Amino acid sequence: MKRALITGATSGIGMQMALILHRQGWELVLSGRNEKILQKMAEKFGGETKYLALDLSERDAAQRLYDFCQGMKIDFLINNAGFGIFGEFTETDLSAELELIDVNIRAVHILTKLFLKDFVKRDSGMILNVASSAGFLSGPLLSSYYASKNYVVRLTTAIREELRRKGSHVQIGALCPGPVDTNFNNRAGVTFSAKPITPKFAAEYGIAGTFAGKGLMIPTLGMKLGVIASKFVPEELAVRFVYELQKRKEIV
Ligand SMILES: NC(=O)c1ccc[n+]([C@@H]2O[C@H](COP(=O)([O-])OP(=O)(O)OC[C@H]3O[C@@H](n4cnc5c(N)ncnc54)[C@H](OP(=O)(O)O)[C@@H]3O)[C@@H](O)[C@H]2O)c1
Repeated sequence: MKRALITGATSGIGMQMALILHRQGWELVLSGRNEKILQKMAEKFGGETKYLALDLSERDAAQRLYDFCQGMKIDFLINNAGFGIFGEFTETDLSAELELIDVNIRAVHILTKLFLKDFVKRDSGMILNVASSAGFLSGPLLSSYYASKNYVVRLTTAIREELRRKGSHVQIGALCPGPVDTNFNNRAGVTFSAKPITPKFAAEYGIAGTFAGKGLMIPTLGMKLGVIASKFVPEELAVRFVYELQKRKEIV
């Protein structure tokens, strides 16, 4: 029986990934802060489903999650937990931003490192890092979030190249959706400026892409074209466009 660990499994894309993998017969280790939801999911899934409620912004949380998984063979790590903060950089809260860096970057870095070492040793395993199309751009008004997802995209593609050169059978990729209809906007305090896709579609796309060995997974044609186009536009122009796009997300 194959086993997957999913962070941020209590809502949105992560919850949909859990449902999909459960239907495919995977055993799951679920994580998030909301213990009640994790408990309900574990009851519903039954079998060997395990869960650990923790806040990934806490200093030792990622290591604790890794330790929790010792003795279980994890075949698929999904680093999905993440959130955004909207506002001008001079006005957003520093401690909330440091939390964002801890969850979106630090925890992803630690979990990727710890599990990847095990996967490389046995030459099997998959990692899916849930980044964002924000990971290809600078994002005024969501600056820390965009910067954090740039980190995830760059880290993932760099590791992917190292694995390729080693001839490793370990798979790593990043899911990079545009807007997805989840609780993300509520937490970030924004509204949609473009039509979102469903979390189910994003989850299916990321899982199918990982199984197919894909590196960067951008779910819609519109967003794919947007990312390609952004490579041909000077950064100064692109950042102006992103500002206008983000400004439309402001709840007034
Ligand atoms: N929605 C979008 O438009 C969009 C677009 C591109 C990429 N993404 C990315 O997709 C991923 C999933 O987000 P979503 O859209 O599904 O949003 P969501 O519905 O808000 O889900 C976020 C998940 O992350 C977990 N999480 C947040 N802070 C955490 C913390 N401190 N410690 C542990 N877990 C934490 C939440 O669980 P608890 O609340 O139980 O802690 C929840 O399960 C994120 O990485 C996000 O950046 C989202």
